[in-house]
Amino acid sequence: MLTRLACDTHEALYSVEAPECSLRGFIALHSTALGPAAGGLRMRPYANEDEAIADVLNLSEGMSHKNAAAGLPLGGGKAVIIGDPATEKTPDLLRAMGRAVDALTGRYWTAEDMGMTPSDMAEIARETRFVAGRDDGAHASGDPSPVTAAGVFRTIGLGAERVFGTDDLHGARVAVQGLGHVGWHLCRMLHEAGARLSVADTDPVRLAEAERAFAADAVAPADVHSVFADIFAPCAVGGVLNARTIPELKVRLVAGAANNQLATPGDAGRLHARGILYAPDFVANGGGIVNVAAEILGVENRDAWVRERLGQLEATLRHIFQRAAAEDVSPAVLATRITSERLLSRAG
Ligand code: NAI
Repeated sequence: MLTRLACDTHEALYSVEAPECSLRGFIALHSTALGPAAGGLRMRPYANEDEAIADVLNLSEGMSHKNAAAGLPLGGGKAVIIGDPATEKTPDLLRAMGRAVDALTGRYWTAEDMGMTPSDMAEIARETRFVAGRDDGAHASGDPSPVTAAGVFRTIGLGAERVFGTDDLHGARVAVQGLGHVGWHLCRMLHEAGARLSVADTDPVRLAEAERAFAADAVAPADVHSVFADIFAPCAVGGVLNARTIPELKVRLVAGAANNQLATPGDAGRLHARGILYAPDFVANGGGIVNVAAEILGVENRDAWVRERLGQLEATLRHIFQRAAAEDVSPAVLATRITSERLLSRAG
């Protein structure tokens, strides 16, 4: 079921196949220089295998940088399943993925990503112990989204402090793309902080709920990046900051939870040239993996440990913003430089 594919950019890329339960997916290990590769499992109706492979390679590389930025003794990995989680996710399919993860004997730890829930992780845990993000069991960390959202909210505050001179978000307009696990918690925190919200989601029910719950303005998914706002928070899919969308942005700060927000590395320069502060996604959304890491590493005093790590992540981000401004480069460029150095220093 697990077949190694040729790949010269990552430590390993595996195809996962179990036709008896319609499982088609991939697992990528980008780097284990800092420790076992860790990163979530995503299920999406990818158009084809190439799209799924491109996503798993990108996401696993992002995890290496995210774990390094958070100072965790974990490498970067990721898994994807091709399919619609709403209609094609079955216990058999999850358990088959669990067996594939187990076959890697701890070189890869999985957890939730888009399309997955803690109860799905419990299903996977019936086949492997290399799974985190469960609701119960030893050191269980549950749904990481509230911690991820708290980290993104702090990131927005730090960014606002640099751009607007204050982290008080009262009256600021924030455009939030994606009202899923993270986006919803983030909207709640922003709403409580007095921010005004423009929100978009491809799910009309979710959108209507957010309009009511947060007195938010609903925007079409295709337009959310271009609304008149102070801050744009991408919390759905990747690639939303690109050659087409960046010229249309009307905000001064971009900070959100989505992984791989930049379509290409060059898009960091595009944002910088426009004077838009961009909080590197793999630092902004690091709260989720910190939460999960406590489970993987078997940390006893979870809450205190997570709080301390989030504080360190915040200090790292502050440092990145300061040094990037001093060097007149994008924070994304600087953050990648710092994490690449951490990876290289351990790889040798
Ligand atoms: P989710 O699957 O719960 O929510 C995603 C939401 O975005 C859904 O409501 C979906 O309908 C909506 N959506 C999809 N495409 C859209 C589009 N084109 N425009 C507007 N809305 C769209 O996912 P979750 O867990 O909230 O994660 C969001 C992002 O944050 C993902 O990129 C994920 O990889 C990343 N992330 C999540 C973490 C977590 O703790 N859940 C941790 C770190 C990163």
